Amino acid sequence: MTNVIWAVVGILVFCACVCGLENGLARTPPMGWLAWQRFRCNTDCVNDPHNCISESLFMQMADIIVTQGYRDLGYDLVSLDDCWLSRERDARGRLQPDPFRFPSGIAALADYMHKRGLKFGIYEDYGNFTCAGYPGILGHLQTDAQTFGDWGVDYVKLDGCYSHPVDMDKGYPEFGYFLNKTGRPMVYSCSWPFYQIFSRMQPNYTAIINTCNLWRNFDDIQDSWESVQRIIDYYGDNQDDIVPNAGPGHWNDPDMLIIGNFGLSYEQSKSQMAMWAIFAAPLLMSVDLRTIRPEYKAILQNKAVIAIDQDPLGIQGKRIYKDKGIEIWARPITPVFQRHYSYAVAFLNRRTDGTPSEVSVTLRELGLDFTGGYSITDVFDGVHYGTVLPDKRFKVDVNPSGVVLVRCDLVKSTGFGTRSQFREPPQQNAFRNPFQNNLFSPFGQQRHF
Ligand code: GLA
Repeated sequence: MTNVIWAVVGILVFCACVCGLENGLARTPPMGWLAWQRFRCNTDCVNDPHNCISESLFMQMADIIVTQGYRDLGYDLVSLDDCWLSRERDARGRLQPDPFRFPSGIAALADYMHKRGLKFGIYEDYGNFTCAGYPGILGHLQTDAQTFGDWGVDYVKLDGCYSHPVDMDKGYPEFGYFLNKTGRPMVYSCSWPFYQIFSRMQPNYTAIINTCNLWRNFDDIQDSWESVQRIIDYYGDNQDDIVPNAGPGHWNDPDMLIIGNFGLSYEQSKSQMAMWAIFAAPLLMSVDLRTIRPEYKAILQNKAVIAIDQDPLGIQGKRIYKDKGIEIWARPITPVFQRHYSYAVAFLNRRTDGTPSEVSVTLRELGLDFTGGYSITDVFDGVHYGTVLPDKRFKVDVNPSGVVLVRCDLVKSTGFGTRSQFREPPQQNAFRNPFQNNLFSPFGQQRHF
């Protein structure tokens, strides 16, 4: 009998390790603020106290997130990135923050966030060191997970510098297991596939989905339009491998939003926001919220784009057309009706002509063939095009390195069904494939621009 009990316990432990983390978190892509892209590893609080990685920086950002409306729009996470740590563990082998830059300690900082209705995120690394050379978790997985739990951490970004990508298949699930074991719900952000792809390994996305709430698959974002475009290309070129992995609780992470920094124009900033919404991406701002210009803040706070990003179906969008610098991307969203999806459609202009490019399509060419038509709204300028039927030609002017993002909501064509039936999210497999084949070649031989 005892043997049977141990066998059952063994199976449960094995399952918890191997079947990984189903923690019920991140049902929509996480939103918040992450320090790295804007503040990097600036530890010089003597000469640059205003911008160094210190508790006061995170407290200031939290205050702005609350008082300037970001939190109420969904940006409810404030997260440390690299360089918060002391170079040494404490006498009991636990991680500790740099005592000069985080004098109140991490539990107090987490508490500061919680009191303001925010979640608190932390950064660590699966290897011997973090990417910036601070202590990593290797050899301390259980202790460190417990420390995070004790501190009141809500979100853990686990990087992969100074470790072997082959070991990650065991290491990331193991740390996820220890996170779970703390009993504290913590969103788990992984860099596992990125390091494996970089080492020319084929990531096991089944294991990754079962372990992580989000994961990076591509290079770090840099403060430039070129960098944003490289990420967009990676997501488009690899969409058949990447897109099916996204869904409630598990997301692809194309990296931080750089809107409001130095590298993107106004048009390019709208493009990043629109594309990240099409990607069902985590919206992690990395910008100085103390000085962001109002027009960039407005992009980050655009409710209609956020609603697309946070759509409850959680289906990631795909590139459905690409030619001569013009791309069309589509993401199935709610409401659904009579086995059809609504869609967010992004027209992205990669050209540098100096004059807007006109793109002209019918919705049917995009695969939007619901006979009742679609109510179309331009998400950035708020223009409402009314009901557009599938065969009616629809034109948009897209600025150089800019985007037009429209929301195409199904128009209920019959008198049947209630509003609530109309909005009810579907069982995905009960619906026609949102990316059925005709969507990939919507234009046949014809050219429209
Ligand atoms: C890696 C990650 C970045 C950032 C840095 C910190 O490069 O991909 O997002 O966390 O490490 O050193």
